[in-house]
Amino acid sequence: CGIVGYIGKKEAFPIIIKGLQRLEYRGYDSAGVALLNGDLNVYKKQGKVSALKEYVQDKDVSANVGIGHTRWATHGEPNDVNAHPHVSNSGKFAMIHNGIIENYAALKTDLEKKGYTFQSETDTEVFINFIEDIFLNTKVDLAEAVRLALNKVIGAYAIAIISLEDPNLMIAARKGSPLVVGLGKEEFFLASDATPIIEYTNEVVYLDDREIAIIKDGKLTIKNVEDVEMKPYVQTVDIELEAIEKAGYDHFMLKEIFEQPKSIGDCLRGRLNAKEGHLHLGGINDYVNKISNADRILIVACGTSWHAGLVAEYIFEEYCRIPVEVEYASEFRYRNPIVGEKDVVIAISQSGETADTLAAIELAKSKGATILGVCNVVGASIPRTSHAGSYTHAGPEIGVASTKAFTAQISVLTMMALMLAHKKGSLTESEYRKLLVELEAVPDKVAKCLDLNAQIEIISEKFKDAANFLYLGRGYNFPVALEGALKLKEISYIHAEGYPAAEMKHGPIALIDENMPVVFIATKDSSYEKIVSNIQEVKARKGKVIAIVTEGDTDIAGMADYTVEVPAAHESLMPLISVIPLQLLSYHIAVMRGCNVDQPRNLAKSVTVE
Ligand code: G6P
Repeated sequence: CGIVGYIGKKEAFPIIIKGLQRLEYRGYDSAGVALLNGDLNVYKKQGKVSALKEYVQDKDVSANVGIGHTRWATHGEPNDVNAHPHVSNSGKFAMIHNGIIENYAALKTDLEKKGYTFQSETDTEVFINFIEDIFLNTKVDLAEAVRLALNKVIGAYAIAIISLEDPNLMIAARKGSPLVVGLGKEEFFLASDATPIIEYTNEVVYLDDREIAIIKDGKLTIKNVEDVEMKPYVQTVDIELEAIEKAGYDHFMLKEIFEQPKSIGDCLRGRLNAKEGHLHLGGINDYVNKISNADRILIVACGTSWHAGLVAEYIFEEYCRIPVEVEYASEFRYRNPIVGEKDVVIAISQSGETADTLAAIELAKSKGATILGVCNVVGASIPRTSHAGSYTHAGPEIGVASTKAFTAQISVLTMMALMLAHKKGSLTESEYRKLLVELEAVPDKVAKCLDLNAQIEIISEKFKDAANFLYLGRGYNFPVALEGALKLKEISYIHAEGYPAAEMKHGPIALIDENMPVVFIATKDSSYEKIVSNIQEVKARKGKVIAIVTEGDTDIAGMADYTVEVPAAHESLMPLISVIPLQLLSYHIAVMRGCNVDQPRNLAKSVTVE
């Protein structure tokens, strides 16, 4: 979910609405605002922020103080009542909340016994009434009541509260869900990430877990839940406004796909210089020995980031000769994994906020492992809690389906592996040098893949009505098959599965008939001959084959229904290239099916719930 708040001298509503639209990628099943102008006006609507905007057209939205929310439902279905903000029984306090309060049922029962009533099914309404109850029964101010409440609730939260009794007050707090305070001139902003703020100020304070921000009478105070005052650490953010706008593209996803030559280039910049044989990731410098001597590398991640982890497994094992395990963060954290001090954990996350990944890190840390973060959002929770790491520097990714973050993650992980391999001596100098040259050539090859856009649009037209899709690849292209299938199902709602091509004969082959499109990622590599046989197996059963092949491959062109030619590259770098046509294929099919590409149903960009 996304939070925006404003307190100052300007009209709050336009700032909040614009901010919510910038945060809509975080959740978009309902939205609401609470505004103070002598009254506490609360407007909530199921659906997108635009539905809320429409709904308030004839309402009074004047105010200099307000909070707003765009929701991804956890407790209670997305409807007007369950939308945030929630107001306490007295009608004085309004609250928005991201996260989950786990002991809300017990708190609710207690409050009901005291006569409190509830309109929604949300834990948030319980939370704000719990605060109100403390406020009324102890003679403390609202900020102190919030602090006392936070000591009693179990779970995760990012909250913002305003009060009818004091229009010069806004309170925010976080634990497990991000929150940023923007410092303007005689005004303050509040948001789940910096994107709604950068238009007005680049000075921000990232709240840490268990911290409370109290903005009162034009002054910001930060304390922790133990009541210790903290000195606000003011940081400057350097995100450009253009980076979070569509720049003429129809969708953020398309813009982000097309940005990849640049985003991969940005990721490599200053770190890699093939001519000079230079490769250096400053962020892991102090840990190179430790990683080289690791017993094992454990990679934890979710979603697309997990797919980047699978590619990294192949690369690290090949070049560094260190055993690698790739784990879904959510599985890792809930079993009793064997982790020790000689293990290095690489946590991959675009947002740096994914709750399961964060929890997996905490678990591994508690067992003495060294944690490296590979994240895109600077200053997010995962990089802050890791021992070391490298940013992917892909720029803000707003489309819910991850594209440029994926290729930047693989780029960073490849650099990590090569840097370690060089240090360890597990790669010869000439192989190392050759790979640096190859890596440096990737952005240009990705640019060539983007020239395939028109051809892929034509292919998309042929398959837009398919009910199922199968994606097959081997070796380095196997994770690409998984990622291609995920992209398609996320945004077009077509059921799609990715499989190692050799596993086809153990199950998926039963699905093949003349209606089944099969996407083969069949570039020229060490398993080329094998995958050619798999293509023949599919054709023998009348499946429709779309093959991603290396430029000039006439053999597969003779068998497949459609071939898409990508530039040749070293096989370990091929995922960076072969994934591009798959991103475009899913994009065009989704557009043709009338789907909301940037905000697919039920999904959220940043999953801060478990
Ligand atoms: C969500 C997003 C995916 C993303 C995954 C992991 O499911 O929709 O695109 O891959 O979370 O997110 P992270 O920010 O940790 O990479």
